[in-house]
Amino acid sequence: MFRFILVVITLFLYLILGIPVLGICYGAQFMAYSNGGKVEPAGTREYGRAHLSTFEHENPLLKGIREQSQVWMSHGDTITAIPENFKIIASTDKVAIAAYQVKGEKVWGVQFHPEVFHSEDGTRLLKNFVVDICGGKQDWSASSFVDTTVAALKEQVGNDRVILGLSGGVDSSVAAVLLHRAIGKNLTCIFVDHGLLRKNEFKNVMHDYECLGLNVIGVDASDKFFKDLEGVTDPEQKRKIIGRDFVEVFNAEAHKITDAKWLAQGTIYPDRIESLNITGKTIKSHHNVGGLPEEMHLSLCEPLQWLFKDEVRRVGRELGIPEHLITRHPFPGPGLAVRILGDITREKVRILQDADDIFIQGLRDWMVKDATGNDIALYHQVWQAGAILLPVQSVGVMGDERTYERAVALRAVTSTDAMTADWAHLPYEFMAKVSNDIINKVKGVNRVCYDISSKPPATIEWE
Ligand code: XMP
Repeated sequence: MFRFILVVITLFLYLILGIPVLGICYGAQFMAYSNGGKVEPAGTREYGRAHLSTFEHENPLLKGIREQSQVWMSHGDTITAIPENFKIIASTDKVAIAAYQVKGEKVWGVQFHPEVFHSEDGTRLLKNFVVDICGGKQDWSASSFVDTTVAALKEQVGNDRVILGLSGGVDSSVAAVLLHRAIGKNLTCIFVDHGLLRKNEFKNVMHDYECLGLNVIGVDASDKFFKDLEGVTDPEQKRKIIGRDFVEVFNAEAHKITDAKWLAQGTIYPDRIESLNITGKTIKSHHNVGGLPEEMHLSLCEPLQWLFKDEVRRVGRELGIPEHLITRHPFPGPGLAVRILGDITREKVRILQDADDIFIQGLRDWMVKDATGNDIALYHQVWQAGAILLPVQSVGVMGDERTYERAVALRAVTSTDAMTADWAHLPYEFMAKVSNDIINKVKGVNRVCYDISSKPPATIEWE
């Protein structure tokens, strides 16, 4: 059924409306296959970086792409033969049909992902397609987004009361300030502390929100979350419990606001993509996607639902939100629960908070030069970082004593949208200092490791 719909859409777009088509990854495989080509399981699955070894430089889709340009792959199947009226326009060392065009038509397919940060000339390729081939205008700006969204929100919610769940992260903060600009005191925010936040995060963030003039109700519900998570080890079950408890706590608070009509959320585009269930499998259930509104009998308002994180940050700056809030690393809704492998206890959370705090503070304090020679904190060269508590103990020696304590993994990645990520190449001297500080200062930890996996095939979070 899904395939049939895709065939109809593709034919309709190109043959009837004459709109150019660009198939990406599965889209490229689908167009090749449904026109008589072959798609088969790849001998070696290809995830992560590859380089365009040969390509048609003059092709309108590939204009300006550099020799050996890095592209990001994420596929287990591969196109092994294309129909006669298709031509190959790019290859990598491992994938002969990395990009093709239907001869004489404005129809292309690419096996790699031009939309992700780690495809170095991906934006150029998309610009070639959208601007040069389709004639699109590049007229999106943060300021025009603020103007049109504030006007649309006024129209959408009128004089109704809106409640918004704040998480401390940039997405919900930007959504709140946007709404505050549109409807002022008719916005009430609720910030639930599930006890799985970073060290001192609840207190610090509440203070930031007060400074922004937001009306925020802070709820400490950590006892409930810890009780319900007791003994639970399965990652998806942890997420479900946290999602359910969050709804219950939030619902109870929201019911006290009797005139509320709308529920606003800081959901962004990648949250929605990764929670989609196209092939029968969800990658991860992000807890701010689905579930909430139906149970709460409120209409849903998601002003950032089409934006990527870098765009949300640009909007936040446009709204005058302080830089330390804008540049805060993303942090998952289920918090440290998805960074403690195995069951969750207050003691494990304490250990992880202390280790994480040393790592994050270390990144903030360690200065490096940026591309233009200016000093910046290492923290700002990293998309997201955090510590993970591993479910293993290992032998060590401290003083004259043998220890048998926990291992912590550190994860720091570069990215622009969290759809793909690479491990951050942190300086060895920095890692030596952080490892030393963690082992010396955090009681219960005697070993520190660094995670060097990219996404895909790994994900940013361990659970
Ligand atoms: P993964 O681990 O899927 O994470 O590579 C991609 C980005 O999403 C964040 N993340 C979440 N955010 N609820 C959230 O609000 C969640 O359940 C959740 N899971 C992952 C993650 O921290 C990264 O920025």
